[in-house]
Amino acid sequence: MELKIELFRRRTVKGNTIILTDNIENLPEEIFNHSEMAYARNQNKKEKAKIIHFNRLPYFDIIVVVPEKVKSDMDIEQIRRLGNDVLSFLNKNKQKEVSLEVVLDDPSLAQSFLEGMILGNYEYLKYKTDNKPQKHLETILVRHNLIEFVHIFELQRIQKALTFTRDLVNEIPSELTSITFPKQVKEFLSDLPIKVEILSKQKITALKMGGLLGVNRGSVDDPSFTIMEYKPQKAINKKPYVLVGKGVMYDTGGLNLKPGTSMADMKCDMSGAAAVAGAMYMIAASQLPVYVVGLVPATDNRPGGNAYTPGDVLTMMNGKTVEVQNTDAEGRLILADALAYAQKYDPTLVIDMATLTGAAHAAIGHYAIVGMESGASGMFERLHDAGEEVFERIVEFPFWDEYADQLKSSIADMANIGGKYAGAITAGKFLEKFTDYPYIHLDIAGPAFLDAAWNYWPQGGTGVGARLCYQFIKTESDRQNK
Ligand code: BES
Ligand code: ZN
Ligand code: ZN
Repeated sequence: MELKIELFRRRTVKGNTIILTDNIENLPEEIFNHSEMAYARNQNKKEKAKIIHFNRLPYFDIIVVVPEKVKSDMDIEQIRRLGNDVLSFLNKNKQKEVSLEVVLDDPSLAQSFLEGMILGNYEYLKYKTDNKPQKHLETILVRHNLIEFVHIFELQRIQKALTFTRDLVNEIPSELTSITFPKQVKEFLSDLPIKVEILSKQKITALKMGGLLGVNRGSVDDPSFTIMEYKPQKAINKKPYVLVGKGVMYDTGGLNLKPGTSMADMKCDMSGAAAVAGAMYMIAASQLPVYVVGLVPATDNRPGGNAYTPGDVLTMMNGKTVEVQNTDAEGRLILADALAYAQKYDPTLVIDMATLTGAAHAAIGHYAIVGMESGASGMFERLHDAGEEVFERIVEFPFWDEYADQLKSSIADMANIGGKYAGAITAGKFLEKFTDYPYIHLDIAGPAFLDAAWNYWPQGGTGVGARLCYQFIKTESDRQNK
């Protein structure tokens, strides 16, 4: 459930209270008597407890101790996780409201704590007929002189964007198609100064997007291509940052049908597209002075009667030909056309986000994003740092040209798959062939969709990538403004 964060002036006498402090010696006397303070100190110092509960029947007072000096991005992440841990406790006890007392030298840490709470309170209830939340918390009351309004507003934007992003990923394939996806995105972004253009099959055909059209041939729905343009008047950049998201609405594998249970979660194959929409929302709603374009090629990948086949050759938007050796390597085919389309912007940087390969998932699990870059090493470093800050970490893989040797085809310019090994990298190398600008490829196949909740990431769609791109664009704008 989306949390309401409200500001209040005076402490409510009765009700759940979180005391967020970096100094266990300095607890509010009006809440804790001497023996309670001694107990809390003991729990914290001897037992190393960071969260100490006092049951006040029917309410709780909860002390949360954060480190006195926050040194690393991991320290910040620990604070988000504490937020989520306290949230779980309140939800287990079916509490609906809590107030937050901030007793910190650096009140901005409260923002991280609250971020952990809002990210952790998500659940997807659309298809539960009783529609009863398991997560009961509805409202957090924050004393208004202890945290700045701007922080609260930013949290609200993050919450709205992440709920939307995750909802898209979790939506079922019958409802979310290449036709309904762009409509939902357009509607979601409609209050913001973002121009959303949805290209139809006719336009896609005129543009000769052979990759997108090829993958779409086995589908009953037409493909779509969505362009989201945010161009603020006072933009710091003339050439845009372009975000490209893989929008495979459902990946059956096509004629190379996915075996066994490996198809089950493939509604998540549009997670990159959803993350682009979520990032565009946060960037524009925060009025960042940066020119950013989002591109989403969308289709599903199905084995219908006219489906593209292994052995087919597709002619892509940039004129290059691709031999289809495996119809399950479809993401790179639709992304290739989007990357070729991006050339017309003469972009500062293009970042694509895609649930592209099982190989990326197998290599590092759900803990991080696999990243590669060409001609963008400085920006990659900054994106990497943004990833540490929001804890959507990026692990850089090598991107040597030797890997591209695996993509040779005997009848076309290239094949759509490489060999047995380094599948995440050969996929990236395939995409790189369609770029002529600074480029970063992010394979989010590991963290995009979880079997079970992990900290404040829920089971199902995590929304990974959205906060990352928002944070990156935010730091790019801060950098230029200095
Ligand atoms: N959508 C899948 C990749 C994927 C796997 C995403 C697991 C999320 C979780 C992609 O289209 C795919 O099927 N890739 C193939 C490529 C292979 C045929 C070269 C893969 O990874 O097996
Ligand atoms: Zn596939
Ligand atoms: Zn796929």
